[in-house]
Amino acid sequence: MPSLNPNAPSHVKNAKLVAWVADMAALTQPDSIYWCDGSDEEYARLCQQLVDAGTFKKLNPAKRPNSFLACSDPSDVARVEDRTYICSEKKENAGPTNNWMAPAEMRATLQPLFAGCMKGRTLYVVPFSMGPLGSHISHVGIELTDSAYVAVSQKIMTRMGKAVYDVLGADGAFVPCMHTVGAPLAAGQLDVKWPCNSTKYIVHYPETREIWSYGSGYGGNALLGKKCFALRIASNMGRDQGWLAEHMLILGVTNPQGKKYHVAAAFPSACGKTNFSMLVPPAGFEGWKVTTIGDDIAWIKPHADGKMYAINPEAGYFGVAPGTNYHTNPNCMASLDKNVIFTNVALTDDGDVWWEGMEQDGGGLPAHLIDWQGKDWTPEIARATGAKAAHPNSRFTVAAINNPALDVHWDSTDGVAIDAFIFGGRRSTTVPLVTESRNWMEGVYMAATMGSETTAAAVGQMGVVRRDPFAMLPFCGYNMSDYFQHWLDMEHKLEALGHTLPKIFCVNWFRKNEAGKFVWPGYGDNMRVLKWMIDRLEGKAQGMETMFGIAPLFDELTWTGLAFSAEQFNTVTSIDKAAWTEELKLHAAHFEQLSYHLPQALIETKATWEQRLQA
Ligand code: OXD
Ligand code: MN
Repeated sequence: MPSLNPNAPSHVKNAKLVAWVADMAALTQPDSIYWCDGSDEEYARLCQQLVDAGTFKKLNPAKRPNSFLACSDPSDVARVEDRTYICSEKKENAGPTNNWMAPAEMRATLQPLFAGCMKGRTLYVVPFSMGPLGSHISHVGIELTDSAYVAVSQKIMTRMGKAVYDVLGADGAFVPCMHTVGAPLAAGQLDVKWPCNSTKYIVHYPETREIWSYGSGYGGNALLGKKCFALRIASNMGRDQGWLAEHMLILGVTNPQGKKYHVAAAFPSACGKTNFSMLVPPAGFEGWKVTTIGDDIAWIKPHADGKMYAINPEAGYFGVAPGTNYHTNPNCMASLDKNVIFTNVALTDDGDVWWEGMEQDGGGLPAHLIDWQGKDWTPEIARATGAKAAHPNSRFTVAAINNPALDVHWDSTDGVAIDAFIFGGRRSTTVPLVTESRNWMEGVYMAATMGSETTAAAVGQMGVVRRDPFAMLPFCGYNMSDYFQHWLDMEHKLEALGHTLPKIFCVNWFRKNEAGKFVWPGYGDNMRVLKWMIDRLEGKAQGMETMFGIAPLFDELTWTGLAFSAEQFNTVTSIDKAAWTEELKLHAAHFEQLSYHLPQALIETKATWEQRLQA
């Protein structure tokens, strides 16, 4: 193999990194190596390069300054869970919810795919910190990629650039993240706008803490700091080191008296985490404030003071565009007014972007668009063919600092102390609007048995209910039952430190009535539920015992500004005995699948619930 001199800049002192880049360059054989510095000048240059290559379209600067639209290959639009592997030495350590291959076998599979895979391209060295630079909770990653789209996206999504090398020093540790679109170019071969490969592998080696991603340029398949590092690899780090890497937003909620609480909430992909993290309290909640610390991922460490401190390892939002509008998420819309990379949304005739849901902002449907696949779109075509202007999993990539509701502590190296956890699935039946677990173990049970109807964030059938424990099904990098045990162990760790544990709540915004319509208004009105949780933390709401935990009484929610009858409340909170009998059978099947190392405590909790249901 010809060895390519990595020509590391003088500020890169980490010999292991330089040697790794040299090895990877020898393997992948790029035409050149470019060490990203994370500067604004570099970002502008790479974006222009992407415009010249046809990958980016620059949007009308009068409408959307410094913003771009990328449209992917139609085959590369979402995370590919069936191509995602946890390659631990032992199969049982990946567990039944992950695809597994022995590391040696996977390395032998990937070797010929990566050999020469960057021919004709540039290898970008992308240094990034997950978490505030220098925080004891943060970790460094280095992504090697042949995609300039990935390099510019990482500048938005992470703390990316030269300063990372100072943190890394001469012998600091980093997670190596190897990425290729898998589309080498022969001499003189013209590139396509969105290179990718129909063969895809998203591979994690948890013991050696490595990520290898082949064949996709999209989202979590390619921006390796996000799901691959911050969840799958970090969940392994957390298990070994006594902390948690979670698929959770983090928000601050301040009451009119100025007392502030912090909440971390887990929801499956595309279930409104970004909306909840940027919630604008409705009329009637004057003086209440919700601020965003993170919208997707939380790293949470128990501290010597007995509290759990959380940081958002990311620095930007890669959010689902369709459905986002001034009603559902005004703060998000304000975040998107400049400096955004959009992917797979539609283009308006005046050079701006559009997606389904924007018609609710008063303008109605546009007369004409270019859809995400480059085709003409009109309301007539949409009516006749059902064609979506924007792909259902189309995204915006935007820096957290664009968010007008950003929490002052979002970048704090200490993180924020968590007062409550929320777990929420997408269920049209069965699971009530909100309940609070009676204790830590019951909360873990609720989270471990969460079910959800699938969304467009991953390739596959939409709308089927699958168990999605802790919203971590596609993201837990080790055996799920060991992960449950890790959560159960936290109780004793924290109690030993003498602090009150965060409360655990379970929510479901998505119950439907007999006509198949959502009953709960959701969005800003979720503040009503959030306030009840704060009232519970402050001992102001009594609630009532149900078999599924403590639930609010109708009068305990603040209804100012919303016409919501006790009957409607009953539709979203009722506990149907027959449905729960079926549901508990599904829990049994779920536990059957997870039987290896399943904590006995969960089986006992299930038995208690069964008895309550019969009572
Ligand atoms: C995401 C996801 O992109 O969960 O956040 O799929
Ligand atoms: Mn997510």
